[in-house]
Amino acid sequence: MKWLVTGGAGFVGSNLIASILSERPDDRVVVLDNFSASAYDEFASAPPLAQAERLAPDAPVWDANRTLGVIEGDIRDMETVERATAGADIVVHLAANTGVGPSVENPRLDSEMNIGGTLNMLEGARAAGVKRFVFASSGAPAGLTEPPITETIAPRPASPYGASKLAGEAYCCAYAVAFGVPTVALRFSNIYGPRSWRKGSVVATFIRQAMAGEPITVNGDGTQTRDFIHIDDLTRAIRLAATTSGLSGELYQVATGCETSVNQLLALLQEKFEAAGLPAIKRRQGERAAADVQRNFADASKAAQELGWRPQKDLSEGLAETLDWFLHYRRD
Ligand SMILES: NC(=O)c1ccc[n+]([C@@H]2O[C@H](COP(=O)([O-])OP(=O)(O)OC[C@H]3O[C@@H](n4cnc5c(N)ncnc54)[C@H](O)[C@@H]3O)[C@@H](O)[C@H]2O)c1
Repeated sequence: MKWLVTGGAGFVGSNLIASILSERPDDRVVVLDNFSASAYDEFASAPPLAQAERLAPDAPVWDANRTLGVIEGDIRDMETVERATAGADIVVHLAANTGVGPSVENPRLDSEMNIGGTLNMLEGARAAGVKRFVFASSGAPAGLTEPPITETIAPRPASPYGASKLAGEAYCCAYAVAFGVPTVALRFSNIYGPRSWRKGSVVATFIRQAMAGEPITVNGDGTQTRDFIHIDDLTRAIRLAATTSGLSGELYQVATGCETSVNQLLALLQEKFEAAGLPAIKRRQGERAAADVQRNFADASKAAQELGWRPQKDLSEGLAETLDWFLHYRRD
């Protein structure tokens, strides 16, 4: 199988590609990334991603002797998208303006990236006749909905990011019905794990702040809840969504179903810091953003039934592993 992964140099993408290369050694992968939120040297710093080859503008994209190629380019540029998608079997579309904060600061850019960019990728996938198009959505389209979130709730986005991801889901459904592109949209819950050094997510930010000896900023009173999923569980769900036969126009929640408050997360992290012999975590109060929902967790029974997917990693174990990765990353 030939996989095109947009945003492949980022947190989810680099973990996904490492998992494809180890689980499916005969497959080939091409990354399309503009490196706006990642760096080539970091991406290709360690095996199995160290075998990456940067592709010159005139180089063939799918060379039988190359396992991992990288196109430096933007999903908003249709010519680049056409070059990248031609010949691909599977497109995993991860490149995006990620997160609520940046979308509130610049809703137009968020729409250009997440709606315009996704439309470009679907057009490229349609022209290429791909076997599967997997779209990275999020819990944000559900927005102001009483959890647990399911695929059938009426979405009420609370941020431009939620609105643009909802539009992406809608285009995936429309391209499946109108043009027969076999799409699957996955609503990822809050992902944590190795290779998240650059992320502004709560786990990565807390670990970075605490490692720097700074107080951890908790926005609001810390009672807000999230559904924290380990990156290895998430990448397994993406591989299943890409390779399970017969899916088209589907939407799946990819989540643990466990509701964890920021205060509970902090207590667990404190344990891990103590176990690693690190100083106690200090806490400081921050402002709660208006677009931040109070409770968020999801029911992934549909993914269990139709993809045979279930989360396997417990949060406590996953946080210990993540802290270990951060400590090694800083030392390397
Ligand atoms: N990390 C999470 O907790 C989470 C949760 C829900 C959904 N998601 C979604 O999963 C996807 C991957 O997230 P991530 O955490 O790996 O993000 P990330 O920021 O680590 O990676 C995104 C990658 O996309 C690239 N990119 C951004 N804009 C681009 C453009 N216009 N053209 C080409 N490349 C571009 C960036 O350089 C980066 O390498 C995103 O679509 C995100 O919205 C992530």
